[in-house]
Amino acid sequence: MKKIISYIYPVTKKITSKYSGNLEITWYNGKKHLNSKNANYSYGSLQKILKIGLKKINLTNCKEILVLGMGGGSVIKSLRDTFNYQHKITAVEIDPIVIKIADEEFDIREDEKLKIICDDAQHFMQLNTKKFDLIIIDLYIDTKVPSPFLKIPFWQNVSKSTSTILCNASLELNNNDKLLNINQFLTHKNYQVSFYEKVNGSNTLLIANK
Ligand SMILES: C[S@@+](CC[C@H](N)C(=O)[O-])C[C@H]1O[C@@H](n2cnc3c(N)ncnc32)[C@H](O)[C@@H]1O
Repeated sequence: MKKIISYIYPVTKKITSKYSGNLEITWYNGKKHLNSKNANYSYGSLQKILKIGLKKINLTNCKEILVLGMGGGSVIKSLRDTFNYQHKITAVEIDPIVIKIADEEFDIREDEKLKIICDDAQHFMQLNTKKFDLIIIDLYIDTKVPSPFLKIPFWQNVSKSTSTILCNASLELNNNDKLLNINQFLTHKNYQVSFYEKVNGSNTLLIANK
């Protein structure tokens, strides 16, 4: 019913999160989205942006993917349904409310192929010793990438753990200097780095490979 009504006007449910403030689950034009106050978190434009990034990556030899910033899990759905990726995914998400929303609203929950870890991605990467074939970085609080994720120590840990990175890097133009630093660091570590700006009209994507 909600789905049908949503073609006429959006139907919204609000949930408060300690990390992201008011979150909204909105049915719009027959599709359910997860939004923060000023940003689309999952499904909708965010999902399209990450799909554009994933199309530029060769997933053929990927057997284990790490997603930092699980949100409602739209990139997990894209990997499985659009890219037919059937191997393991580990997803890290700081917000237990978001993990509950992913489960109850979007059918994203742990199974034999999906491990969900409730942790700060910075802390997780400090302790991580495992190698992943691809790390997808999609860490936002509303429209902002939290500052530790634009600093080199985080990227040092990422570079120890993978040869391929897809990062939803920024909505904000004033992050350009920080992105240039990250570019320099990754290039120095022998990655080939590409930036795609205004993807789907808004975000900057970083793709790095070695
Ligand atoms: C844009 S959403 C992620 C969307 C998700 N990748 C998808 O495909 O649907 C950003 C997520 O990053 C999470 N996040 C923000 N800071 C974090 C941190 N320090 N550690 C882990 N997750 C964090 C937020 O709680 C939010 O769920």
